[in-house]
Amino acid sequence: MSFMTVSDSAARTPSGIAVSGVSRAFGSVFALLDATLTVPAGSVTALIGPNGSGKTTLLLMLATLLTPSTGTIRINGHDPVTEPERVRAIMGWMPDTLGSWPSLSARAALQTTGRMYRMTREQAAVRADELIALTDLDNFADRPSRVLSRGQKQRLSLARALVHSPGVLLLDEPASGLDPAARASLRQLLRRLAGDGTAILVSSHVLAELDEMADAAVFLADGRTASPEQVAAAGASARAWRIRSLDEAALERALAAAGVVGALVQVLGVDQLGTLVRVENEASAAALLHNLVLRGVPVCDFGPAVGNLEHTFLDLTRETGHGIAPNDSEATK
Ligand SMILES: Nc1ncnc2c1ncn2[C@@H]1O[C@H](COP(=O)(O)OP(=O)(O)OP(=O)(O)O)[C@@H](O)[C@H]1O
Ligand SMILES: [Mg+2]
Repeated sequence: MSFMTVSDSAARTPSGIAVSGVSRAFGSVFALLDATLTVPAGSVTALIGPNGSGKTTLLLMLATLLTPSTGTIRINGHDPVTEPERVRAIMGWMPDTLGSWPSLSARAALQTTGRMYRMTREQAAVRADELIALTDLDNFADRPSRVLSRGQKQRLSLARALVHSPGVLLLDEPASGLDPAARASLRQLLRRLAGDGTAILVSSHVLAELDEMADAAVFLADGRTASPEQVAAAGASARAWRIRSLDEAALERALAAAGVVGALVQVLGVDQLGTLVRVENEASAAALLHNLVLRGVPVCDFGPAVGNLEHTFLDLTRETGHGIAPNDSEATK
């Protein structure tokens, strides 16, 4: 592929990220209590959790910038604690804020980063040009990075994470500050990198976007990762669907009629986008739609009110007794 200039095929085995029982305390406060997850090579995994749930803390430990209190981490088989150099050579890190050299241009910053990865001056210059094109920074590449807009800084930060064509990519809120076109390019770029074998872990609050981009999701709440069983149970729970009709009164009448509103369907309310109903599962959603159409309701929009990840996230972080409680780190301090 075009932007793999550094070969690290040897370092790619065993590939991906493996985290087991990791915790991290700051004094008496646990920022992370128990994180267990894997990110296989060639896939994008979403890291989802409320503010303060430990996402950045976890990513910092994967990126060799923080030591775990307990547990083990392996990046392509290497331990970030005992082999930080080897991990840094194969890992790209995009932090949530760009800590760049403010007076250097984007191009110079990328070239300098390339030199730090031991590229020759020529290699670093070629790589910087490639990345500027890749992240659509052409028009801003020669301005000092301090004058870049937030979205442009994000793109520079992404470009910098990719300088050495890492086999493992860690991104903390990469989409924040990006306009819709830049978000779409980010999605495409991450899919392409995963297609080339990169293991990607990406934290974000834009869950609808992650739905389209991620192969798997890790949910963090209160410093703990949810187990696959908890995630499956939350994903399968009853959810809200939104219905819009060209004739709202006809919809209201049909929903109120016996046989439509029953054990399976419950009207939750009406908002500016339509009527929200609680539906037990997809089969009852299909039955409801069928019933509405039979009754002559001109339905023009019918679908889940939130995406899969958002639904699972909301369900997991509600007080459900699933074991991962809603995050309230202030209360636990
Ligand atoms: N250096 C530190 N010293 C003390 N507490 C910390 C430190 N770093 C993080 N914490 C605490 O650990 C918890 C997890 O923080 P972290 O930044 O990992 O959350 P996050 O999931 O990235 O949140 P956000 O969505 O807001 O970015 C928070 O309660 C935070 O206050
Ligand atoms: Mg964070």
